[in-house]
Amino acid sequence: MSHLAGILAGKHFAQKDVPSLVGRKYIVTGGTNGIGLSAARCLYSHGADVTIVGSQQSNADAAIEYIRTGNLHAAPKDYQDGFHGLLGEWKDDSADGGQESGEVHAEVCDFRDLKAVAQLGKKLAERFSDRLDGLLANAGLGVNNFALTKDGYDAHLTINCLAHVVLISHLLPVLEKTSTQHPEADVRLVLQASEMHRTTFGGPSENFGGDKFRSTEEFKASRAACSAAIWASDLLALDLERAL
Ligand SMILES: NC(=O)c1ccc[n+]([C@@H]2O[C@H](COP(=O)([O-])OP(=O)(O)OC[C@H]3O[C@@H](n4cnc5c(N)ncnc54)[C@H](OP(=O)(O)O)[C@@H]3O)[C@@H](O)[C@H]2O)c1
Repeated sequence: MSHLAGILAGKHFAQKDVPSLVGRKYIVTGGTNGIGLSAARCLYSHGADVTIVGSQQSNADAAIEYIRTGNLHAAPKDYQDGFHGLLGEWKDDSADGGQESGEVHAEVCDFRDLKAVAQLGKKLAERFSDRLDGLLANAGLGVNNFALTKDGYDAHLTINCLAHVVLISHLLPVLEKTSTQHPEADVRLVLQASEMHRTTFGGPSENFGGDKFRSTEEFKASRAACSAAIWASDLLALDLERAL
């Protein structure tokens, strides 16, 4: 149901409808900015223990301060900028209805480096060995310049999808254990993606909407790398749904 249709039908789910999350534990990748930061603040303000993951220490520090205090001016600068609408300021409703103070921790890891992600996965699996209620696999690179990682993979694909495959491989056993040992827990694995998979094969040439690029340079200059990464995340979600 669309956002508007949901409101009209009285079935719109809002932050204020989130139940108490005291005692629950979540990891939010990309929780230091954007959508992930709003989600992390919502979880925290309903009493959850939240670990946010980002690539920059400065953003992680600012995000923690914002989550704890609700002071938007403490948040990363581009997060604050997102609240400036054409017709004025957007309301920050990321903690609506949340009266609790949970716990918040941060981990800094560059998802371009899959070995570092594997180390993080191992560390988090140990830390959450008693309980993990949810992993929000949200970190992502939007349309950006084409670049290869040191492992030789496209950076979009690595950050948005491959890093999450590595992280999930470490954390899935902990999520499964939590759902067995805590039958009341509503354990979730959430994969963030986008509508951009629809433009996966379109190039900027007369082939737009087709499936061919005239050159590698044309591919690099297009948004196809980002679209392909989103497409890979969609396939990962479908595959996990089939397997679990
Ligand atoms: N915004 C939209 O309109 C939209 C629409 C559809 C889908 N999405 C998807 O939603 C997700 C979040 O988007 P957003 O707009 O909230 O993005 P954003 O504001 O740019 O935030 C991206 C988050 O991902 C982290 N991240 C980026 N590169 C990283 C790296 N190399 N290693 C580790 N973490 C990294 C960032 O951490 P640092 O800041 O510390 O690097 C940040 O916390 C993405 O997967 C995106 O594809 C967004």
